[in-house]
Amino acid sequence: MAAATTILLISGLGCRQDMHDEPKFFPQRGTDFYADGRSARPQVADTIARNQLHANTYFYSGFIDGKEGDGMPFPVTMKVLERGQERFNIYCTPCHSRVGNGMGMIVDRGYAHVPDYHTPRLEAAPLGHFFNVISNGYGAMPDYAAQIAPADRWAIVAYIKALQLSQKATQADVPAGTHVEPISSIAESEGLPANFASQWVLPPTAAAGTPDNQPYVLPPTVPNPGITPSGVAGASSAAVVTKRANASGGTTAAKQ
Ligand code: HEC
Repeated sequence: MAAATTILLISGLGCRQDMHDEPKFFPQRGTDFYADGRSARPQVADTIARNQLHANTYFYSGFIDGKEGDGMPFPVTMKVLERGQERFNIYCTPCHSRVGNGMGMIVDRGYAHVPDYHTPRLEAAPLGHFFNVISNGYGAMPDYAAQIAPADRWAIVAYIKALQLSQKATQADVPAGTHVEPISSIAESEGLPANFASQWVLPPTAAAGTPDNQPYVLPPTVPNPGITPSGVAGASSAAVVTKRANASGGTTAAKQ
């Protein structure tokens, strides 16, 4: 038995650990291999990684010479608009609503105020502004760069423009002789009230998010019974635990 153990020990010592001991860099740890002491190496100057060549900067940024540009980086077709509508309805309507009036379901339930797209300022905004807002966020709005690829962001931008035009379209905007049906009669023909597509108002819960329309106040913090000010459980916190246990019918007390 002793001999077997000795053999095992010797063979164990002989086991090489090349993979374990090989020279390598640990994340966030320095090194003396490189003169600057950094193990995470900066990108080599004048090189570009695959898929990082953003030669068409307008397509990727929405900016021209540091200013939001106007116009699309590719032609708008019906397919682009349909894709934009689909992506808009998925990602933007929860807050901006399907018509872009800023009264989406999340706002309905107390999210920060969302602007209406059909205001003179946003109607006049360059297309690059919308691309920029989706890519980088805007104030209380988070960015959607991770969820929506650049081409789809532009498709959404084109669709927002169509939404804006649709709200103010007149007979003069369509080829002569085209029959234009008022939206109220379309609603009625589908069995909906005539005012179905009219501007709607948010319920009183929207702005403040509370039933009495008062600003929401966080309840006072309940002290954690296990932690006294010194950070150690002591006699006073034990008293708190007992009181709570009693209040809940003693079941917790029995367990403690
Ligand atoms: C979670 C809610 C939410 C979603 C989803 C959302 N937004 Fe917004 N959006 C906001 C809020 C809030 C603001 C106002 C931000 C502010 O002014 O602080 C805003 C503002 C904007 C503005 C106006 C910027 C300006 O100049 O005033 C645009 C344009 C816009 N959003 C586009 C979009 C698009 C396009 C999408 C979908 C890709 C989207 N948003 C999705 C909440 C949202």
